[in-house]
Amino acid sequence: MIAHSRPTLDEDDAREVARVVRSGQLAQGPEVEAFERELAPWFGAPAAAAVSSGSAALELALRALDVGPGQEVIVPTFACDALWHAVTRCGATPVLADADAETLSLAPADAARRRTPRTRAVVVVHAFGLAADVDAFLALGVPVVEDCAQALGARAGGRPVGARGAAAVGSFYATKLLTTGEGGAVAGPAARVARARDARDYDEREDLRPRFNYKMTDMQAALGRAQLRRLDAFLARRRAIAARYRAALGGLPGLGLPPDAGARHVHHRFVVTVERPLTPVLEHLARRGVAARRPVFRPIHRALGLGGYPEAERLWARCLSLPCYPRLSDAEVDAVAAALAEAVGA
Ligand SMILES: Cc1ncc(COP(=O)(O)O)c(C=O)c1O
Repeated sequence: MIAHSRPTLDEDDAREVARVVRSGQLAQGPEVEAFERELAPWFGAPAAAAVSSGSAALELALRALDVGPGQEVIVPTFACDALWHAVTRCGATPVLADADAETLSLAPADAARRRTPRTRAVVVVHAFGLAADVDAFLALGVPVVEDCAQALGARAGGRPVGARGAAAVGSFYATKLLTTGEGGAVAGPAARVARARDARDYDEREDLRPRFNYKMTDMQAALGRAQLRRLDAFLARRRAIAARYRAALGGLPGLGLPPDAGARHVHHRFVVTVERPLTPVLEHLARRGVAARRPVFRPIHRALGLGGYPEAERLWARCLSLPCYPRLSDAEVDAVAAALAEAVGA
């Protein structure tokens, strides 16, 4: 079976984690500090705080922007549930907005339509590796949180994703562009990052502001540092895989390919649109040994029984995520493309 995702790990990663284990300093310490220093420039940010997950990073970024009860935060419905959970954990109300057909991120016009006097922030996801148009959301006049969980290393207008918003977040879960097993980060101006750093630990604090144990371990940070050294190579391989898919699949009837966006796209996922029912296509791919997925399990509004999200509905019915990760061989890419061509009857 060709897996949908696999982490890219090597002996250097194993050696670095073993070094920390042998040192006896396991919990948050100098490796986390060094990881944060090395990570911040990838977000184009002055500072970064490493935390236990992307979900924790989202919550801490929102708290650092004073998101709380009585306020609303606009989030995409065509995204993972982590966004909804992060807002509700702050005591605020998530306001779902529809998807953009081109970027698969938030639709700026729909986000603008759902803005109210209570809107405190908007979370813009750079979806599946493609940098969204952050300027369109800055125009809303509320702080923008850039969710770079799927797009670390993508660049727009000569700057890394994460550099333009009030704060940026990353995730280092096992399927992400670089992994620490589980992990995440908040990046942005030093004062805001300091607030996230304060809230990720409860120990020996005079006051009782909202805090939790959201710390990353030094073992994870050592893995992150080793991965970071190879991130450019990881992204180059992802782009080569995307180009190979593009050459093999371009022109197939009823199949839409992701935009060829150069530096703006790091291809965390290679998401195609299929103009026919997805389930038989997924089943055909599985029979041919290919694990493809819907890129979003289900839009958030569906879990809440809400209507009014026609583009997210359309994308959910049509979008298919193909295997795309550095360890995928050219022969595997060709096998996936051939299986998909069969599935769509080309
Ligand atoms: C866009 C986005 N944001 C946030 C998260 C949450 O990250 P984590 O799984 O590390 O909590 C994810 C997880 O997949 C994600 O895709």
